[in-house]
Amino acid sequence: MIEIAPSILSADFARLAEQVRAAEDGGASLLHVDVMDGHFVPNLTLGPPVVASLRKATSLPLDVHLMIENPDAFIPAFAEAGADWISVHQEACRHLHRTLELIRTSGARVGVVINPATPAETLSEVLALVDFVLVMSVNPGFGGQKFIPAVLDKVRKLAAERAARGLSYRIEMDGGIAPDTIAEAVRAGAEVLVAGNAIFGKGDPAENTRRLLKAANEAAMIKV
Ligand code: DX5
Ligand code: ZN
Repeated sequence: MIEIAPSILSADFARLAEQVRAAEDGGASLLHVDVMDGHFVPNLTLGPPVVASLRKATSLPLDVHLMIENPDAFIPAFAEAGADWISVHQEACRHLHRTLELIRTSGARVGVVINPATPAETLSEVLALVDFVLVMSVNPGFGGQKFIPAVLDKVRKLAAERAARGLSYRIEMDGGIAPDTIAEAVRAGAEVLVAGNAIFGKGDPAENTRRLLKAANEAAMIKV
């Protein structure tokens, strides 16, 4: 099943509930929340209180993408605030296995993320532990960047490995997803598509979400 996960990073934070509702009206089934600490990535965003407010404002599952150093210190607080999915960067975790177990214990769905420069092979020992793998298609830190097509190969590899090993993780892609890139992401095997700028950048978030979902579903139907 294809899902669109609007990233609130590009939304108007003063009208967050309204913008989230619009994306939901357009067919969003998950809400992507980008958490940045100014250390792992050169930008700062939000913490558990905003997740707690979103939890009250929408019934969509909250997909919390932690772009932070030492995520172990914050995973329980995000889970407590209402995060349904929590993902951590392979590059930020010295003891990745332990961190993934901590997410599991917290009750959230478990995700691991890799940057464009990180090989998919670095995840081979943890693939059986996760519910989803997030492949970054830009370098994390900012919305509105250009899609990096070279990462599509990693999506294909992860889909092939899942089949070969009989695993069931979902594959999510984040960064530069727009009407002109979403079809190739889906054809490579991405099933959860994050989009910030393409949804909240300009125009109506509901219409933008509808358009992306339609393009993604069409690409999924002609997938070989
Ligand atoms: C980037 C974030 C993304 C970002 C995507 O560091 O992880 O979720 O919001 O934004 P767009 O869709 O504008 O590339
Ligand atoms: Zn993200």
